[in-house]
Amino acid sequence: MIQLSFLNLSLLTLLAQIPYSLGCMPQQNKNILNVKNGIVLMTANPNYSGQVFMRTNSDGMTSSLLGNVTGFTPNSTHGVHFHEFGDMSNSCTSTGLHFNPTNMTHGNIGGVISHSGDLGNIIADANGTLIFNTTNAGLIVLEALGRALVIHSLQDDLGLGGNAGSLTTGNSGSRLTCGILAVQNI
Ligand SMILES: *[C@@H]1O[C@H](CO)[C@@H](O)[C@H](O)[C@H]1NC(C)=O
Ligand SMILES: *[C@@H]1O[C@H](CO)[C@@H](O)[C@H](O)[C@H]1NC(C)=O
Ligand SMILES: *[C@@H]1O[C@H](CO)[C@@H](O)[C@H](O)[C@H]1NC(C)=O
Ligand SMILES: *[C@@H]1O[C@H](CO)[C@@H](O)[C@H](O)[C@H]1NC(C)=O
Ligand SMILES: *[C@@H]1O[C@H](CO)[C@@H](O)[C@H](O)[C@H]1NC(C)=O
Ligand SMILES: *[C@@H]1O[C@H](CO)[C@@H](O)[C@H](O)[C@H]1NC(C)=O
Repeated sequence: MIQLSFLNLSLLTLLAQIPYSLGCMPQQNKNILNVKNGIVLMTANPNYSGQVFMRTNSDGMTSSLLGNVTGFTPNSTHGVHFHEFGDMSNSCTSTGLHFNPTNMTHGNIGGVISHSGDLGNIIADANGTLIFNTTNAGLIVLEALGRALVIHSLQDDLGLGGNAGSLTTGNSGSRLTCGILAVQNI
């Protein structure tokens, strides 16, 4: 009896795997180790709103970001970074420093010397919309998942400012708004 149910279980396990071997994989975002599509809702500050989509590129090392966030001063420039934590218990203040797993100094998006979370600057259009449209972010969705995407008040000097702040924050000012990268429903 015990042996029979063990056999049944083995058979069920085997049968359950057949669809996978036939290529009927579940959607990639349902396997946590294979998540390549994320979404950030910029919720921290009601003065700004929008969403940003993040996709891991086929090289498996970089990603693209696409999206719109409204509410900024027309034509203003803003430093953007992934910060270490997705902890918004104290709005954007509790999201930690720039995400920097390799202990580098601050720089530009995709730079050899940069934090993984450095995303450079984005200039608001004449309607005050920040349009994310980049393919060279130096981190993938799995690395950024659960962390905060933060938009700052000032232009990021990209590590070229010649002072200590430049090498850590880019002197990009206060945190205007932020949101957490989540697994997208696709
Ligand atoms: C939203 O904008 C208004 C008007 O500029 C300002 O007084 C208020 O402090 C802003 N709210 C936040 C949370 O930044
Ligand atoms: C951003 O806004 C533009 C204009 O409304 C729209 O065409 C585009 O699809 C939006 N991009 C994303 C990623 O939502
Ligand atoms: C990170 O780099 C700094 C120098 O840039 C060094 O002082 C520090 O010890 C490093 N931290 C770790 C954890 O390696
Ligand atoms: C923003 O830039 C556009 C295009 O250069 C210009 O026409 C517009 O006057 C600028 N708006 C402000 C508020 O400076
Ligand atoms: C700003 O919004 C107006 C009205 O919706 C639109 O006609 C115009 O194309 C927008 N400008 C930009 C730079 O997106
Ligand atoms: C994004 O950038 C590409 C190339 O740099 C450009 O062709 C495309 O029109 C841009 N899309 C938006 C929504 O700005």
